[in-house]
Amino acid sequence: MARVTGIRSVALDVTDLATAQAFFTGPMGLEPVGPVKNAVFLRGASRHHHIVELRAGPRRAIRRVEFAADDRPAIDAIHARIAASGLACETPRGLDRPGGGYGFGFSDPEGRSIAVTAEVADHAAPLDHPDAPVKITHVNLNSANRDATARMLIEGLGFRLIDETTVNRFFCCGRDHHSVVVGANGLTTLNHIAFEMKNLDAMMRGGGRMRDAGHPVEWGPGRHGPGDNAFVYFIGPEDLPLEFTAEVLQIDETYVPRGPDDWTWPPGRLDQWGVTDPPTKRWKSVQNLTAFVSDGWMCMGSVPTSS
Ligand SMILES: [Fe+2]
Repeated sequence: MARVTGIRSVALDVTDLATAQAFFTGPMGLEPVGPVKNAVFLRGASRHHHIVELRAGPRRAIRRVEFAADDRPAIDAIHARIAASGLACETPRGLDRPGGGYGFGFSDPEGRSIAVTAEVADHAAPLDHPDAPVKITHVNLNSANRDATARMLIEGLGFRLIDETTVNRFFCCGRDHHSVVVGANGLTTLNHIAFEMKNLDAMMRGGGRMRDAGHPVEWGPGRHGPGDNAFVYFIGPEDLPLEFTAEVLQIDETYVPRGPDDWTWPPGRLDQWGVTDPPTKRWKSVQNLTAFVSDGWMCMGSVPTSS
């Protein structure tokens, strides 16, 4: 079955585009791709054309999660399943945007804008930068209808439910243990975006850069149970909930999923190492704030390149 292979990018709206750009190109370590009119496209250390798209908007919001697929036949097969499920979706087409590509957008069961793309003009080589985030390795989505979102991920995009705790379901679409996490809290908002760092030292140096820049670690450093990934959480401009992570467990089809009874912690513990305090009150507050906005069902509207 054709399926997505991972997250390619996220698109965010911010009220202060200049400040957000300075943050993402400063302590975050991303590099602008462009120039682009009325938007900022940012690449990481991978070959992906861009992994973050910023636009000015009336409020901070998440506009789109873009998944990668292998090729046009995969896009068309995934589109056929999404269309057959009854969700509002675009017809796959060539994309008029920086990096181009072929793909389509759709509105998921909870109104999030999701895109699936292939044939994007990726860079010839990764960035030679030891501490730049490599890619977006997962998004964690708050959900008011977790079963409907799970059906879309599994039956539409080809994910596998890989682990489940009392709070979160972890969905896998490749070697990374998870690329999407869905938590049921009654809201359809962004919980956080996780950027993969090359190794544990790069993750810790990233946390240090954030601290130096006035964005202290709100939870961590620690190591999660499901996925076995190390983490530091911090808050970006306009209360954006962000994570640096490293050493995400690599799995294959032999991995045996586990359930809530398997993923438990001893009293006082929330991670494997046990050296971190619990998440701060501020972190808990920003995990529910960022809403999804949509251009209706046209998820992949064109962005003119500047001349
Ligand atoms: Fe995470």
